[in-house]
Amino acid sequence: MKLIIGGSTGFVGAELIQQALSHPAITTVVGISRRETPAPAESPSTTAKLVSVVCDDFEHYPDHVKKELENADACIWTIAVTPAKLKSSSWEETVKVCRGYALAAIETMAAVPRKQDGPLRFIYINGHFAPRDRSEVTQPMDSGILEMALLRGKLEDEILAYADQTNNALVACIAKPGLISAPDRKVPSIPGLPQIERRDIAAALLHQAVTGFEKDMLSNDDMIRIGQSALSK
Ligand SMILES: NC(=O)c1ccc[n+]([C@@H]2O[C@H](COP(=O)([O-])OP(=O)(O)OC[C@H]3O[C@@H](n4cnc5c(N)ncnc54)[C@H](OP(=O)(O)O)[C@@H]3O)[C@@H](O)[C@H]2O)c1
Repeated sequence: MKLIIGGSTGFVGAELIQQALSHPAITTVVGISRRETPAPAESPSTTAKLVSVVCDDFEHYPDHVKKELENADACIWTIAVTPAKLKSSSWEETVKVCRGYALAAIETMAAVPRKQDGPLRFIYINGHFAPRDRSEVTQPMDSGILEMALLRGKLEDEILAYADQTNNALVACIAKPGLISAPDRKVPSIPGLPQIERRDIAAALLHQAVTGFEKDMLSNDDMIRIGQSALSK
């Protein structure tokens, strides 16, 4: 199968690339980012499966980028302004990257030619906390993070609604991890916010991309369960 990873240069994207390259069911991995996707040093024998696509415009895809998206079976979308980078991004830029790029991606992927009969599977990685309105916010929090969480909460509905009206050309799933840790990235304990290891979330999302969606929203616990089970096999 052909898998597209949007944001293949990021913290989660790099792990997805590495695991996807050694996944026997995945024959082509297209990493699409604003810069080249480095081939992981650990998997030299499988890097032939990797296609690095640099995209200069995530709102209006150039034709040569659209061509690389044709005949895909699944996409995992990781591009966003993360809370750590929020202060260095204007609100306008944050909305464009978090919402505009995700919606343009799903619309573009639903429109490019595909030979397959089954739907393209689109996984959008959001965060654990994504309220639909302010009444769901029960404790004080940074106003910038709150506005972004509200934006991305509404975006979950927009993505699922978009998929619903594609006549099964595309199906969508929202992944809702808590803080993501890695051996070289320990994360602080924050009350009410779960944690997941990067290898587990990557394995879970690849499993869902390959086998189909268990449900349209995956919680942190769902992804630990699915990811650890996939890694144990
Ligand atoms: N890390 C966590 O603990 C955590 C927890 C919960 C949810 N998440 C979610 O998981 C997803 C991935 O997070 P991550 O930690 O992997 O983030 P990341 O390391 O910052 O990677 C984000 C990706 O988006 C790209 N990107 C950012 N701004 C861009 C822009 N203006 N134009 C084009 N590309 C842009 C980055 O490209 P460059 O590499 O060129 O910067 C990178 O490929 C996000 O949706 C995040 O909210 C993360």
